[in-house]
Amino acid sequence: IDKSAVETILRPLDLTDDHYRRLMDLMTEDIVKGMNPQTHPAANIKCFPTFVRSVPDGTEQGDFLALDLGGTNFRVLLINLNGQEVKMESKIFIIPQHIMLGSGVQLFDHIADCIFKFITDHKLQGKKLPLGFTFSFPCRQEGLDKAVLTVWTKGFNCEGVVGKDVVELLHAAFKRRGDMPNVKCLAVINDTVGALISCAHSDRQCAIGLILGTGTNACYIEDLQNVKTWTGDDGEPRQVLINCEWGAFGNDGNLSFIQTDFDKAIDKHSINPGKQIYEKMISGMYMGEIARLAIERLRKNHLLFEGEGSYHLATRGRFYTKYVSEIEGDDVTNFTVTRQIFDELELTNHNEQDYRLVRHVCNLVSKRAAYLASAGIACLLNKMNKKEVTVGVDGSLYRFHPFFHDLMMEKIQALIRPNIRFKLMLSHDGSGKGAALVAAVASKLKDKDD
Ligand code: BG6
Ligand code: GLC
Repeated sequence: IDKSAVETILRPLDLTDDHYRRLMDLMTEDIVKGMNPQTHPAANIKCFPTFVRSVPDGTEQGDFLALDLGGTNFRVLLINLNGQEVKMESKIFIIPQHIMLGSGVQLFDHIADCIFKFITDHKLQGKKLPLGFTFSFPCRQEGLDKAVLTVWTKGFNCEGVVGKDVVELLHAAFKRRGDMPNVKCLAVINDTVGALISCAHSDRQCAIGLILGTGTNACYIEDLQNVKTWTGDDGEPRQVLINCEWGAFGNDGNLSFIQTDFDKAIDKHSINPGKQIYEKMISGMYMGEIARLAIERLRKNHLLFEGEGSYHLATRGRFYTKYVSEIEGDDVTNFTVTRQIFDELELTNHNEQDYRLVRHVCNLVSKRAAYLASAGIACLLNKMNKKEVTVGVDGSLYRFHPFFHDLMMEKIQALIRPNIRFKLMLSHDGSGKGAALVAAVASKLKDKDD
């Protein structure tokens, strides 16, 4: 095999710490811009204030509904809070592709139908149910229960929702049905906020929420004085959770110094070209496709499978991100799983050299993703400059990849100031528990007002 030809094709995926440090500098600038739009030009990283000001204190109680929209699964949840004790039941509902790309009315009618079915199955008709909505898309919030979608990301693109308050759209759908006056949405949160809140419930040092799943994003606790976009009241605590929406980093071209041909091709063929550039280099919706494009380029150059491909391998999106995880987790003494995947892809001509090279491609792609995300986290940690911070993490990529966690531990450590200590903690059901906790706090405040 021609090692130098392989090297030429794959080298652009192998970045150095200088690259990552430059990225951190650029991200720091963008975050400052995001929070100072009056004095700075438009930012890619919007840094939306969330109206979540404090983490729960463990005294929250009652039954709550939660909705979880924007990740792999759409779920409706029933959560019973009783201090530290949290009980939860949930059901996954399918959102068909034609609805993901259909109209907003269709989407919210579908959501209302699913909630109604869930309520009926649990015999909750007529019971007063406050609802927390984890809506994992970029929103400009004007209150805890007012979230205006700025742009769709990932696989969604429903007409008539951008620029609208999603709580209003949800309540309008309830009204159209007419049979769910007992359900009221009190809070909208991002999944990153859910991850942070649910970890903070057991670890008070938790000050960053990170998602590495279909998409990627982070939120963190910021001092109110730094947030020039804050429109809420400025009482205690003088802090607010910021939803960075860092997936949009690079939209103005400032990541072109690390973008490869593969990244450019993915962006070009996506439903949102020119958008979510950083996300497209990292998250689960795209990682498999980056690997596929690299594998295909090697094959076309006769560096894999003696040049013989297959219909599946040539199909966009067909090399799933879970394959990357599975191949990297495979036993290198027999490559059983790798062979199975090649069979699934109907590749007929392969040998051990191919297994090793495909594994190497997967390693490069996921290492770059993990390091890029690490640079983002290191940027936040350096900016916050707290002695000890826990990062609450969720998402299928982080959960299922065999060593994403280890790669991140190593790289964050290398990029942060030496006096900072950090932990990466898996968040359990942040989008359910977090939404319920925030709704609980809102409901307590509301009861006081009533
Ligand atoms: C899940 C949450 O645990 O993590 C989702 O329930 C969230 O709401 C998700 O969006 C992110 O991961 P993925 O892989 O499902 O996109
Ligand atoms: C996308 C969304 C963001 C979300 C992330 C992870 O980047 O825009 O809101 O947090 O995906 O699900």
